[in-house]
Amino acid sequence: MYSGEQQQKPVTVATLADMKSRGEKIACLTAYDASFATLLDECGVDVVLVGDSLGNVIQGRATTHPVTMNHMVYHTRAVRGGLERAFLIGDMPWMSFRSESAAARNAGRLMAAGASMVKLEGGGYVADVTAHLVERGVPVCGHLGLTPQWVHKFGGFRVQGKTESAAEAMRREALRLQEAGAELLVLECVPAGLAERVSGELAIPTIGIGAGPGCDGQVLVVYDMLGLTPGKRPKFSKDFTGTGGGVRGAVTAYVEAVRQGAFPGAEHSF
Ligand code: KIV
Repeated sequence: MYSGEQQQKPVTVATLADMKSRGEKIACLTAYDASFATLLDECGVDVVLVGDSLGNVIQGRATTHPVTMNHMVYHTRAVRGGLERAFLIGDMPWMSFRSESAAARNAGRLMAAGASMVKLEGGGYVADVTAHLVERGVPVCGHLGLTPQWVHKFGGFRVQGKTESAAEAMRREALRLQEAGAELLVLECVPAGLAERVSGELAIPTIGIGAGPGCDGQVLVVYDMLGLTPGKRPKFSKDFTGTGGGVRGAVTAYVEAVRQGAFPGAEHSF
């Protein structure tokens, strides 16, 4: 898929912006340790996210609320050690960005652990926090839609932006985050039409999960796409292990499917 030289050139925010302008889809997966990070990197994954989903898939918790900054720093450092080419995003856990000063202190810890960007869930006051971080040299990824840290506010893990007014509010939040300086935006569990519209309106790339094929890139929790997560597979996910070639084959198949626009299909979208 890449020439040797391209494969080694580290992905930057500029690379991601260029990919959007060229219409090239961005392949993103989560990782929590160096071994997975290396494998994802070698398979051509562009962006690796150390998600606070580690609360679910590593720690076995029902929500991401128990995840702490110490957990995120530990896993971000481990993942950094495994990467050469992929761009690394560290997730800001619950309450770590409740104020501008808390956000600056905690984003600094994630950057020192090796993240090249931090991700913050939510709209509203998060735009002000984003501006505060960006002004201090911290690249920011926004996250709208079904933001799991807000699960109790939403009353469950539900698709967001379904009504006209909720969709309009999400469009406005997305523009606000972009104006605040966010350089990437995750859209999670939102109707495909809305995600496509937001992706078209924003200059920055969008990365979808359960947001249909109209986003500029896709992300999945790596254990979901390897069929390792117990219980019912989420509608937006796909088990790529059926393609053969073990874990490496599954990750390569995922990257190719994202690049070619073959994943997600309508059956993975809302
Ligand atoms: O925590 C996480 O892994 C995430 C992705 C699912 C987007 O936020």
